[in-house]
Amino acid sequence: MPSALPDGEPVPESGSLPPSALDGRESSPLGFYLHVPFCATRCGYCDFNTYTASELRTSEGVLASRENYADTVVDEIRLARKVLADDPRRVETVFVGGGTPTLLPAADLGRMLAAVRDEFGLTPDAEVTTEANPESVDPGYLTQLREAGFNRISFGMQSARPHVLQILDRTHTPGRPEKCVGEARAAGFTHVNLDLIYGTPGETDDDWRASLESALTERPDHISAYALIVEEGTQLARRIRRGEVPMTDDDVHADRYLLAEETLTAAGMSWYEVSNWATTGDAAARCRHNELYWTGADWWGAGPGAHSHVGGV
Ligand SMILES: C[S@@+](CC[C@H](N)C(=O)[O-])C[C@H]1O[C@@H](n2cnc3c(N)ncnc32)[C@H](O)[C@@H]1O
Ligand code: SF4
Repeated sequence: MPSALPDGEPVPESGSLPPSALDGRESSPLGFYLHVPFCATRCGYCDFNTYTASELRTSEGVLASRENYADTVVDEIRLARKVLADDPRRVETVFVGGGTPTLLPAADLGRMLAAVRDEFGLTPDAEVTTEANPESVDPGYLTQLREAGFNRISFGMQSARPHVLQILDRTHTPGRPEKCVGEARAAGFTHVNLDLIYGTPGETDDDWRASLESALTERPDHISAYALIVEEGTQLARRIRRGEVPMTDDDVHADRYLLAEETLTAAGMSWYEVSNWATTGDAAARCRHNELYWTGADWWGAGPGAHSHVGGV
């Protein structure tokens, strides 16, 4: 099988970074990606590195559990401090992704963020995001996140249509993600994203239009719209192979992408990256952490689904 590793130097086994990676770092922004690999249920389309068990065991014992996961991430952040040694940079973006980060208590996410702040410091205008599943938060939880220093939140909506949500195995009630946008605003979040998926088997153009319009009702300042990828090894791929659900065709995907662009532009948003739209004319509405990847800046990743990139390594 061909290697899936990108070009570039591999990480040295000692965990240290070669001098070439450490040269000229100060000119590049630094971000953190903190991965939380737990979900309440596995969506049939998703092949992310995530687990529904609350405790991961091997014959040698417990590898990770929801209970001690934040401590493990804090240890990794301290390791990053050691490896980056005298790096003077403060962190410009933190992104907590999943899995479902909001399955952990808000205080645990707050502790992870505090470790980044204590070890590296955050810039005064740092963007601090967490992903969240709509059914896993309530106003009290959102307020706690805000108090801990999170200022951006991204909810997985995917679709407004019950039959589409059902094919995707999504467990939230239709309408709940849109309500989450209002609750996040009330808790003090200025930046709110909704994730949508188009091209689900059985979805029509009208379904997709309705999802876009519904996503816009509470005026989030960011929308991510992803073409459904049927990933090998997922339940959805098996269902398609067995002929239980149809495969969506590429032309349908292309038409829905154009419909997204048309609808979101008409609603005052602008496309700025393959799958992302943000409020027109408001640079702060774009996801800076995402832009950091696209511009090849530096980020430190912690967690089993994370990778890091420092100075080309
Ligand atoms: C880590 S998940 C977001 C957080 C949360 N776990 C959720 O699902 O609400 C990131 C996003 O990736 C997208 N995604 C995951 N698997 C995908 C696939 N096979 N095709 C297209 N988009 C996918 C979904 O829109 C999902 O919201
Ligand atoms: S899409 Fe989100 S909630 Fe569903 S399994 Fe993947 S990470 Fe978990």
